[in-house]
Amino acid sequence: MSVSTSKEDGVLVIVSDNPPVNALGHGVREGILRGIEAARTDQEVTAVVIACDGRTFHAGADITEFGKPPQDPSLPEVIEAIEALDKPVVAALHGTTLGGGLEVALGAHYRLATPSTKLGLPEVKLGLLPGAGGTQRLPRVVGVEAALGMIVKGDPIPAKKAEAMGLVDEIVPESELRQRAIAFARSKAGSAELPRSGRRTDKITADGSVFDDFRRANARRLRGFEAPEACIEAVKAATELPLEEGLKKERELFMKLMMGEQSAALRYLFFAERAASKIDDVPKDTPLIEVKKVGIIGAGTMGGGIAMNFLSAGLPVTLVERDQAPLDRGVGIIRKNYEATAAKGRMSPEAVEQAMGLLTPSTDMNDLKDCDLIIEAVFELMEIKKEVFSRLDSIAKDGAILATNTSYLDVNEIAASTKRPESVVGLHFFSPANIMRLLEIVRGEKTSDSVLATSMALSKKIRKTAVVAGVCHGFIGNRMLAVRQAEANNLILEGAKPWDVDRVLVEFGLPMGPFQMADLAGLDIGWDPEKTSSSTIREVLCERDRRGQKTGAGFYDYDESRRGAPSAEVEEVVASFAERSGREQRNIGDQEILERLLYPMINEGAKILEEGIAQRASDVDIVWVNGYGWPAYRGGPMFFADQQGAAEVLAGLKRHEARLQDGFTLSELLKRKAEEGGRFTG
Ligand code: 3HC
Ligand code: NAI
Repeated sequence: MSVSTSKEDGVLVIVSDNPPVNALGHGVREGILRGIEAARTDQEVTAVVIACDGRTFHAGADITEFGKPPQDPSLPEVIEAIEALDKPVVAALHGTTLGGGLEVALGAHYRLATPSTKLGLPEVKLGLLPGAGGTQRLPRVVGVEAALGMIVKGDPIPAKKAEAMGLVDEIVPESELRQRAIAFARSKAGSAELPRSGRRTDKITADGSVFDDFRRANARRLRGFEAPEACIEAVKAATELPLEEGLKKERELFMKLMMGEQSAALRYLFFAERAASKIDDVPKDTPLIEVKKVGIIGAGTMGGGIAMNFLSAGLPVTLVERDQAPLDRGVGIIRKNYEATAAKGRMSPEAVEQAMGLLTPSTDMNDLKDCDLIIEAVFELMEIKKEVFSRLDSIAKDGAILATNTSYLDVNEIAASTKRPESVVGLHFFSPANIMRLLEIVRGEKTSDSVLATSMALSKKIRKTAVVAGVCHGFIGNRMLAVRQAEANNLILEGAKPWDVDRVLVEFGLPMGPFQMADLAGLDIGWDPEKTSSSTIREVLCERDRRGQKTGAGFYDYDESRRGAPSAEVEEVVASFAERSGREQRNIGDQEILERLLYPMINEGAKILEEGIAQRASDVDIVWVNGYGWPAYRGGPMFFADQQGAAEVLAGLKRHEARLQDGFTLSELLKRKAEEGGRFTG
């Protein structure tokens, strides 16, 4: 039984127990409705408490039921029955009261919560809107503006804030929740007027400009997503329509989103993210290495950002550089970043000092001897990495994890420069490392299970989404990126303009295209002015001091506010290379640009799968969504491939094959999927 009831002094207590998160699956809905029905007909019952056992109150509808035939009673029906009951109903909240869970609580007449409770309507993150009355009841309780923020952004709020907004009636100690809720319910027994969220009218009026202002203020983060606009429409309906009609409108909008491709993609990603944290052949009970102190070598772009992750999580970090000057510079940037966060009000000045107080800068690698995890982030050169690791081998304590942040290099070769390759792993952070959520955990041939399991656990502690990758040039993300980059270059040599290539990808939903990205990163990465030989477009642009945004020119010309405009000089440089390459010049349509950029990436993703570099197709998608800005509402490259159909991707690649990068070969897995009509993502 997932729902049980008991009577205490005339209060019917309805308790759900549906681990792990008390999702409102069919059995739970049925059980709650049965309880409400019993309360209605039982003369002895004067009030009701709805509560949950386990780690949380209902964290939402059961997402695994979405897309399957609905089973009565529906959640809106259950909530309407709760609200309509003529005896007081108190919801006793703890844990993460989310989505349908908060909607149940809104159906109740009163809400009590423990101090650590988080309340939210995160449906928008699944490409949906709250479909069980949340868009109609929440604005009636907390007002339109506050409700818009919670519903359209989907971030949960703490109990204290909810209390201040009038969403929670009382905060009660963790250990007394159930008893206090029963006493509260009893004190309300016999009330003539119950505060029904749906019947409230006091907070529901809104000036029409609230909606437009909200749209404007959030335009950037909402670009391309369908659900936020539907959320706004639904909340607007709450201000214009009586409850019953508003609920109908909400239902219509909800069903439309539920049937759409965006929600399918976002729901897929929800489960993909959870799957990514599982390492198939590493037993769940693998012992973890205790990490109490972290060492980082190299305080450059990456080392500093990596350090911030651990400092913010409360772990002491020793940061080692080869000289005092780069060390001071690196530490200065860390402080500046924290202070900028504090200036935006997202961190207290005390927290800045607390984080900085955990940092020990040093120019002596011997200071790493008591670290449990040491991450190397020095220059991307095998010789230097090997030298650093062989020195580390003689300094680091037994059992310490030795990690490299290399982007491309062979982790096995790096591991072989130590006497303990089982302790070596790749921890590939993305730039800026304190912000980007992705972490590729690169598993060497000899990396031990403990090192892998500990790396995965640590990623959670520093709030990263980790994906395990095998060793190959560029691992999962950069290997696929390199293929896209090569095709982008081919396209401009055949007549497409760099700005058209970028535009097509931006219209697809990526934050920027390959040439904008190159300008942002700097065209001179790896460029040596002493050895330059005008042999690539990039080299020529660097020679002309067009080294990207930082020099005011790269593939684009930049104004003072860093807005890029097409450049005639670049057109001329590209044209002269094109002429020398002997390629046919032609007009290339947007569809071809898109296929030429994305299909070879999918082909590479399929090779990554057949070689066992990624554990599952959804891991590839997690890498692209979290590390490279692939639009979440498109699920990721492999999910996109499934939407197109493997046969179409294969046909597209064959259409363009003659023009693709030298040495291009089709993936056997892709061919097989195309033949069988199979999917990558299940
Ligand atoms: N339905 C089904 N399964 C769910 C679920 C849900 N709503 N929420 C979590 N789970 C599952 C996860 O898939 C995971 O399963 P696994 O162990 O097999 O991988 C397990 O529960 C534990 O979840 P987490 O690993 O995410 O546990 P955490 O403790 O890290 O996080 C949480 C807990 C904050 C509740 C997080 O799981 C979460 O955000 N869940 C989704 C909440 C949500 O989106 N609710 C709205 C649902 S839509 C809705 O309610 C529609 C309504 O308006 C009609
Ligand atoms: P960087 O050049 O900004 O920083 C490297 C730092 O290492 C320099 O400050 C240098 O003084 C220091 N250093 C060099 N040798 C050292 C030694 N023996 N001991 C101590 N310090 C030493 O380089 P960046 O960009 O931070 O890259 C570092 C590593 O991270 C590289 O392997 C790179 O491939 C990888 N990486 C870089 C990303 C990026 O976007 N910049 C993204 C992901 C990985």
